[in-house]
Order: sequence, then structure tokens, then C-alpha cells
Amino acid sequence: MAEYNTRVIIIDPMLPDHTAIREAATLIRSGKLVAFPTETVYGLGGDGLNPTSLRRIYTAKGRPADNPLILHVANQAQLASVAAEVSDIARTLMRAFWPGPLTLILPKTTQVPDLATGGLATVAVRMPDHPVALALIQQAGTPLAAPSANRSGRPSPTTAQHVLDDLDGALALVLDTGPTAIGVESTVLDTTCTPPVILRPGGLSQTTIEAVIGPLGKSPDAASQRRSPGMRYRHYSPKARVLLLADTRPETLQRTVAAARSHHRVGCVLHQLVPVEVPSGVMIKRIGGSVSDYAHGLFAALRDLDALGVEVIIVEGVAEEGLGAAVMDRLRRAASPLEA
Ligand code: TXA
Ligand code: MG
Repeated sequence: MAEYNTRVIIIDPMLPDHTAIREAATLIRSGKLVAFPTETVYGLGGDGLNPTSLRRIYTAKGRPADNPLILHVANQAQLASVAAEVSDIARTLMRAFWPGPLTLILPKTTQVPDLATGGLATVAVRMPDHPVALALIQQAGTPLAAPSANRSGRPSPTTAQHVLDDLDGALALVLDTGPTAIGVESTVLDTTCTPPVILRPGGLSQTTIEAVIGPLGKSPDAASQRRSPGMRYRHYSPKARVLLLADTRPETLQRTVAAARSHHRVGCVLHQLVPVEVPSGVMIKRIGGSVSDYAHGLFAALRDLDALGVEVIIVEGVAEEGLGAAVMDRLRRAASPLEA
């Protein structure tokens, strides 16, 4: 249902246009939703302390109400308004990695509406590393609740067009600064337990975090899965069925393609694997280069293959090191069957 005539404003990320930022901040303060870029993916932003805005976010995304949101802050005062307590470890992590792709789970203040946290006593907070995001949060003068700006269950948006493809008419404005840098979401780290535990692998790797605070706890165990309710749901799924290749031998690719192709239109997302022989008619998206390049282009490749009308997408996995852990997490979820 199109409620809004969604506008798009193109902004130079290095020289944010203040008129556009002011306009976006005014919309946020009046309870409206604005999609904005971060270094990871585009977020669907609303006033994180206003229950009306929070309700609009859940409705626009079709998101289950027990899947809590991340509050995005731009300064220490905003952090203090949402986090009741910041442990020494959390403080150290903020110094080392904020602004950046690290979301910290912290005890919440009473100012944070239950709608933002799905009724939990904790809140997810991050300071994004993007000049437009920071300027918008600062100008709005309130922490912004911002889940990835996709319909619930779909691949996260790395361009303004992806946001429109999913949410046109459901929000007031999109601030467009081009493709996002990292391409997968932030790492979610629970700092309410000792040692901290990764609830969602993301743009900041486990080894990078451990280099600063030492070994993390084992994750995800059953308890931490319960603490991150969002991890239960299907995620990152294009319309096509996703098959994750078990290994990266050309024969495996050929066999999988041949089996799928007898009944379906097939697309492939490939990274290091060079297809020796792939039958004509199979759409190939190759994202070569490093694992960061793969993370950067992955969600767009899944969406592009959907747009081409393929029914099965065969994707190449990567080693679970560094950013590879986040990439494999997304691929596994995209490939997993729907939860009943
Ligand atoms: O990179 C990102 O993090 C992007 C950009 C826009 O900042 N945002 C994002 O938000 O990915 P979202 O809503 O798609 O994912 C938030 C994740 C979910 O897995 C949710 O379950 C978890 O954070 N989360 C939020 N609050 C939590 C809490 N209090 N305890 C445990 N997990 C929480
Ligand atoms: Mg999301």
C-alpha cells in the first residue's frame, strides 16, 4: 500500500548538502521514515524514541515485532540517553571501533521504548561510519532506529534503488549516496555477558575485535540465539531458491547446474571459482577479487538475478575467515528453507 510519494535526493557523501539533511531531519522529527546510507547497508530510519515511528518501521518492513532494532547514535550524549550502563570493555570497543560496523548490546535506559527492543532489557546501539548518517542523526537530535531498509526476509539494500524496489511508497525520503562500502551489516556483539559474544557476524571481524579485548565467548550458543530474536527468522532471501555449493570444484558446479537446469531457470553467483563449462542460458554473476569485494557485491547480485527471473541461484561459498564469516552467515540463511 503506497502511503507516500517517496522522494529520492542524491547527495555527495563527502560534501553533504545541509538543506537535504535538514529536510530529512525534520521528517524524522515529525515521525516519518527516511532511508539513509551507512558504511554497511542502507537503513530505514525513524526516531528511535518515538513509538509512532517505531511502529511505522515494523509495518513498512513487514517485520515481526519481537525482532528488536538498532539505535544509531552520533555522540556521547545520545549514547547516554539509551544505554543505562557502559562497561569498561564496551567503552574500549567504542574507542577502538566507533564510528564503524560494530553494534553493541547494552543495558537500556527507561527512555528507550519497548517497541525498539522487543521488550528486552537490553538495547542494540551503534555509531555508523558515514558522514551523511552522522549528519542526519546529529541534526535530528535523537537516536535513529534503523533496520536494513529491505522488506523483511529480503537481501539487505546496498543501493538506493534496492530500497525503492522493496519500500517505494512506504517511506517519505531516500538519501542516495551510491553503493555502500562494506555491503554486509554490522557485527552484533553482546557485551552484557563476560566475555562478550558475537550474535551476528558482520562488517567487523572476530579477530579484529579479539586483537583489542582478547578472546570472545563461544557463539552462537542456544542462550545467545534466544537473546538475538532476529536470528530465528529467514533472512537475505531472493525470490529464487538459493543453493550453496558444498565445495569449489568446477565439477561440483557443473553437476549442480546440470541438475537444477533440467527443471528451472538457473543463475550463479561466483567468486573465486572459474566456471570451465556452464551451459548457455545460465546467468553468471562473477564477483572476483577479495572477500571484501564479494561482501560488497553479494546482495546486489542476488537481487539482479531475481530481476532476471531465475528460479534457482547457485552461490559459491568462501572460507570463514575475517569478513568470510559474515558472508557465509548470509549465504547459509539465504539458502535455508522457510521457518514454519
Ligand atoms: O549494519 C547494520 O547493522 C544495519 C545498518 C542500517 O546500520 N542495520 C541492521 O539492522 O542490520 P537490522 O534491524 O536489520 O538488524 C539488527 C540485528 C537483528 O539481528 C536483531 O535481532 C539484533 O540486531 N538485535 C537488536 N537488538 C537486540 C538486542 N537487544 N539483543 C540482541 N540482539 C538484538
Ligand atoms: Mg536486516
